[in-house]
Amino acid sequence: MSVYRKKVAVLISGRGSNMISLINATRTADFPAEIVVVGSNRPDAAGLSYARNEGIACFALDHKQYGKDREAFERDLDAKLEENGVELVVLAGFMRLLTPWFVNRWHNRLINIHPALLPAFPGLDTHERAIETGVKVHGATVHFVTAEMDVGPIIAQGIVQVEDTDDANRLGTRVLEIEHQIYPQALRLIASGNYRIHGMRVLATDK
Ligand code: GAR
Repeated sequence: MSVYRKKVAVLISGRGSNMISLINATRTADFPAEIVVVGSNRPDAAGLSYARNEGIACFALDHKQYGKDREAFERDLDAKLEENGVELVVLAGFMRLLTPWFVNRWHNRLINIHPALLPAFPGLDTHERAIETGVKVHGATVHFVTAEMDVGPIIAQGIVQVEDTDDANRLGTRVLEIEHQIYPQALRLIASGNYRIHGMRVLATDK
C-alpha cells in the first residue's frame, strides 16, 4: 500500500544543503512527504538553481521589494504556499523573521532547523558563541515555529562534541552534517502524523 505523502514547501535563503538532504530523503519509497515547491526570499539563492535542476517548482519573493512591509511579503508568501497546495512548511536556512500573523496561520504546520541545542544559543553566530562559552557539547535542533524566535516544541536534536582544536568553522561543519541527518528524520515523524504535542514536548505515538 502506498503511503500518503504530505505536500511540503521548503523555504531557503542560501545554499540549501539542508534542502538537498530533504529532497534526497523524500525521494525514498515510503517517505510520508513530498516537496511540492521550494521558495526563497533571495532570487539568487544557490539552492533555488539546484531545486530547479531537480525538476521541483520554485519561486522567489525578493523581500527587498517589500521595504519594511513584512506582512505584504508574508501575504504573497502565503498565497504561493496555498497555490501549491502546501500542507507543511519547512524552513531550511530561511533567514527572515516571520510575523505572528504568518506563524499563527501555519500553527503546528511550520518547522525550522536551528544550528544549536536549543534553548541554548538562539539567534545568530551559534558556533562562535558555543566555543566562547566553553560548552563541551553542541548540535542542532528541529522545532515547531512559534511567535517567539527559536522557541517552540522540540522535534529532534543531534549532538556533536566540541573539540579543543575547534574553531567556529570546523565546529559548524560537523553540526551541518548532523543537521542533514536529523532534519529528514524529524520531517518523517511530523509528516507521518505519528506524534502529539504535549506542552513543549513532541511525543511519538504508536503507528
Ligand atoms: C543551517 O546551518 C541552518 O541550521 C541555519 O542556516 C544554515 C543553512 O544552511 N539556520 C539558521 O541559522 C536559522 N536561524 P543550508 O542553506 O546549507 O541548509
